[in-house]
Amino acid sequence: MPALHSLFSPGQIGHVRTKNRVVMPPMVRNYADEHGRVTPRYRAHIERVARGGVGTMILEASFVRQDGRGFRHQLGLHDDSVIEGLAGLVEIAHAHGAVIGPQLYHAGRQTQSRITGERPVAPSALPDPLMREAPRALEVEEIHEIVRAFADAARRAEAAGSDFVEIHGAHGYLITQFLSPFTNQREDQYGGSLDNRMRFLVEIVQAVQDAVSPDFPILVRLSCDELVPGGLTPDDTVVIARRLEDLGVAALDISVGNYASYTRGYMMPPMAREDGVLLPFAERVKAAVGVPVIAVGKIRDPRLADEVVATGRADFIAVGRTLLADPDWPNKAQAGRFEEILPCIACNQGCISRLFEHKDVWCTVNPETGREEAFERPADRTVRIAIAGGGPGGMTAARIAAQRGHDVVLLEQEEALGGQLFAAEAAPYRPGWRELREYLTRELGRLGVDVRTGTRATPDTLREVGPDAAIVAIGSSPFRPRIHVGPGVDAAFAVELLLGEKEAKSPVVIAGGGCSGAQTAEFLAERGLDVTIVEMTDAVATDAPIDDRALLLQRLKTLGVQILTETRIMRVDRGQVTVENPYGVGTIPAATVVYCLGARPNDGLADALKATVPDVRVIGDAVEARRVTEAVAEGALAVLAIEQGAARIGFDHDLRMAAD
Ligand SMILES: Cc1cc2nc3c(=O)[nH]c(=O)nc-3n(C[C@H](O)[C@H](O)[C@H](O)COP(=O)(O)O)c2cc1C
Ligand code: SF4
Repeated sequence: MPALHSLFSPGQIGHVRTKNRVVMPPMVRNYADEHGRVTPRYRAHIERVARGGVGTMILEASFVRQDGRGFRHQLGLHDDSVIEGLAGLVEIAHAHGAVIGPQLYHAGRQTQSRITGERPVAPSALPDPLMREAPRALEVEEIHEIVRAFADAARRAEAAGSDFVEIHGAHGYLITQFLSPFTNQREDQYGGSLDNRMRFLVEIVQAVQDAVSPDFPILVRLSCDELVPGGLTPDDTVVIARRLEDLGVAALDISVGNYASYTRGYMMPPMAREDGVLLPFAERVKAAVGVPVIAVGKIRDPRLADEVVATGRADFIAVGRTLLADPDWPNKAQAGRFEEILPCIACNQGCISRLFEHKDVWCTVNPETGREEAFERPADRTVRIAIAGGGPGGMTAARIAAQRGHDVVLLEQEEALGGQLFAAEAAPYRPGWRELREYLTRELGRLGVDVRTGTRATPDTLREVGPDAAIVAIGSSPFRPRIHVGPGVDAAFAVELLLGEKEAKSPVVIAGGGCSGAQTAEFLAERGLDVTIVEMTDAVATDAPIDDRALLLQRLKTLGVQILTETRIMRVDRGQVTVENPYGVGTIPAATVVYCLGARPNDGLADALKATVPDVRVIGDAVEARRVTEAVAEGALAVLAIEQGAARIGFDHDLRMAAD
């Protein structure tokens, strides 16, 4: 049954017709070469997304000059050598009926000299709080040069056959820096009044118009609200949007925020934020202009996307991380196959957190993202694979193996699949982990995987399965420290409390302030218990994505959770915990102490299986306790390694490519 008529009705951006209203928003992948050129990996990725049915593809922020670059492997539009690669992407998009164009950008102060090789530039010499590097204020002549660089970049984009360009006026990069009083303190014609602050953007639009064919569409992305005191507000943005419309801009793409407000958790809304959280911003602009408006921000349910278009709240729907998680989202949505969509769970672990660490973008739930070259190649033999352990890594290995035509048996000792996802989803504001668990469980059923719950993987059970290969995904167990716990205090592992296997009594001391300790503290404090976190390092939850962390810390504060950093537990007995920190030794009242001190791999099984199974691979926490992102990636790569008889499971896709 065809569904979602509004979302899948053709759209119009300037003279360009789109096959539907689904847009891939710009997302830096860090897959380009060091010169900013398209690589085979990039091509394979874009091909995979285009094949999934998206109508409009806005390529990532592409630097117009070397000094405006934000990431080492970002796309560039700074010289003519990039045109050929871009033309290849255009060809791919067109072959799938999509329209495509790059986003033109200059990072301004939101970069670092270690990336650009020179001191960052900005309208004024004010450092960005995240980059922490003092920029140099631009001279007027330099501003003109950058305007010309945008025009040259647009010319290159058109020469490559692009259908449009988008100018990046959002997220606190150079154009926003000029637009905003938060970053622009100039006293010349580029600073002061909004008219003056808009001058740089207006000149860029006009220079781009002069550089391209008369009806070549120009889009502009804006942060409707910068979400910082003294920054751009929706009222300012309405004025800017109207001016852009008067200039002949073809569409407006409405986002929010800058780096200074990034940790408020709106720009890439994390798990704790509701779906469609940024829609009011697009609506505000839509009400003020006649040109099409693109809405973005955790729009994951195709029915919500359709309703937004149907009711005229926006004309196009951008689904960013959603396409990293499932490039087939548009086709599945159009066919009404909602249950088959692999959901982006808004964890921000695999994608944006890795990018901010200057790594290539992955997706926690979809290990094929960024590894399309390897996974597109069909398996050249069928293998009977036994998978021990039904956590996210094991379940993903089973899903990928079944998808690739292998004969798969999944053994899980508990009565239900999910492993550590159960504890993860029990913590407050973590619905995504449940969504992943439910999707994987559904998908293994749909793919016909032989799932044997209540079955422990042992040499005997494996002998009965008779596999050619086994993937050991049996996870880890919480670490129990060598602290003597005397009478008057109960000890528990976080997982036991989260799963309701044990009850904590107030007051509670959490030993270990990593992400899991902080989440357990929140879980208990929400139930009315007095909670103190004791952490040896100088900060808590540092292993969480930075936006997620900031929201979590805010909630802990509201709940009254006490946090002691640089503090070590010495003794636990007689209703108290004795601690030591740089200020001395003290005691904290405690009825329960909760261990959140990491985990140790469950080992031993792989060695025991070697006599029974010819090819044994160990993945995820069973190797070393890490995040779901790594477990899922290793699970999927183990399937490829088994198929190819490759020696090791690596993350380095290039090595893997070279091995073939
Ligand atoms: C890995 C990653 C890279 C991004 N890079 C860009 C970019 O180059 N330009 C841009 O305007 N926005 C960028 N964004 C923001 C997205 O375009 C989008 O606005 C944001 O992810 C929220 O939409 P979503 O919830 O559908 O993912 C990026 C987001 C992610 C996750
Ligand atoms: S890594 Fe997480 S947030 Fe990013 S696309 Fe994948 S599921 Fe979504």
